Amino acid sequence: MPIILLIHGPNLNKLGERAAAHYGVLTLADLETKVTEDAKRFSLEIKSFQSNHEGALIDFIQAESKSAVGIIINPGALTHYSYSLHDALVDAGLPTVEVHLSDIKSREEWRQISVTAPACIGQISGKGVAGYADALKLLAERLAVD
Ligand code: DQA
Repeated sequence: MPIILLIHGPNLNKLGERAAAHYGVLTLADLETKVTEDAKRFSLEIKSFQSNHEGALIDFIQAESKSAVGIIINPGALTHYSYSLHDALVDAGLPTVEVHLSDIKSREEWRQISVTAPACIGQISGKGVAGYADALKLLAERLAVD
């Protein structure tokens, strides 16, 4: 099955312990299980990766993008300042959807800016875990027309 890279940035390994009002109660393992199940409906396979380190995320994208057809990424706080992650996503040349569990547009001013979104075909924010299902749908639609 075609592979979608599901990438999580810093602190997302702590889901389930982080502020539930912003990030919900599911753990990262719960989230990955759910997205993996949802992906099967689109005949897509999920390959997940989480790191607290910007370089490790870039290494993963560089190593895996050739064998994948799309990316779903929640870059965590790197969203707001990582130009190198932006560039890695552009270089990967894959349709990419950025997902945020919380609504970044209604939070602190610095959080409302995404430097990675311009490398993406869409950004989904504030829908919790459901945002990942929307991202899958968006990618599946995009892949169907390509
Ligand atoms: C987040 C939003 C970011 O601002 C924050 O730094 C995160 C999670 C979200 O999913 O809502 O770590 O990407």
